[in-house]
Amino acid sequence: MKMFASRTFGLIISVYLAVVISSYSYYAWNISWSRVKAHHGQSSPYSVCKSRQPSVSAPHQNIWGGLADKEAADIIDLLHQHSTGLNLTTEDRDGSWDNRILHLELLAPNKSDVLPFINKNTTKPPPRYARATLMFGATPNSFLQDYVIGPLPITNNTQVRPLQFLYNNAGKGKVAVDFADRSEVLQFAKDVGLSVADITKLLWDGVQRCRQINQIKSGTRI
Ligand SMILES: *[C@@H]1O[C@H](CO)[C@@H](O)[C@H](O)[C@H]1NC(C)=O
Ligand SMILES: *[C@@H]1O[C@H](CO)[C@@H](O)[C@H](O)[C@H]1NC(C)=O
Ligand SMILES: *[C@@H]1O[C@H](CO)[C@@H](O)[C@H](O)[C@H]1NC(C)=O
Ligand SMILES: *[C@@H]1O[C@H](CO)[C@@H](O)[C@H](O)[C@H]1NC(C)=O
Repeated sequence: MKMFASRTFGLIISVYLAVVISSYSYYAWNISWSRVKAHHGQSSPYSVCKSRQPSVSAPHQNIWGGLADKEAADIIDLLHQHSTGLNLTTEDRDGSWDNRILHLELLAPNKSDVLPFINKNTTKPPPRYARATLMFGATPNSFLQDYVIGPLPITNNTQVRPLQFLYNNAGKGKVAVDFADRSEVLQFAKDVGLSVADITKLLWDGVQRCRQINQIKSGTRI
């Protein structure tokens, strides 16, 4: 009897909780549904997605924008001029025993130049500079070195100098390259491989045949 009473009590509590929870959920659901309806209604302050991109106006000119094609082309021309003394070979003719441009990008402006512009203390944007990574292969001791080129656009005042202030290493942006003719070594290995292709094929076929024979032997009941 005691057990029956406690079971009945348990049942009543469960039903009560179920009613409370479901009525609360209905209330919450009803509220969110009316919000959804309000969103889609004519009087809603939220409009549906527009088919065209909205136009925005930036408060500042983008001073971090990458080099434009014209800027990059002009810099490449300048670097290849004899007067720079870099002795660069153009990309279509260069090999591992030449000096060449590996990488060219905008050098991020100094914070001290950016802040006055962003804070509207000056209307003059920071001067633009480029950084180039050059590979010096026309020497027995090959090395990479970063250069700074600027100010841009190129005028008679534009300078090409080793980029050093960014670096703390002993070489100040100059790094030795021990294995500069990797592509020649790969080509050599390929040439040697091709010259013994017939022998290699015979050997591989031989090994393959031995394997097949072994598999048959180990897997076959005699
Ligand atoms: C310039 O580079 C070429 C290889 O591209 C090399 O043969 C020549 O000796 C270099 N000239 C100087 C002055 O280093
Ligand atoms: C940026 O700051 C470095 C370190 O102070 C300085 O050497 C360099 O000339 C500055 N660059 C420009 C464009 O002012
Ligand atoms: C703005 O520039 C002036 C003159 O160069 C300077 O005295 C002042 O401290 C600068 N103000 C700010 C907020 O950088
Ligand atoms: C740049 O230098 C060249 C040759 O030295 C000269 O003919 C030209 O007038 C100079 N340009 C400017 C803008 O100073």
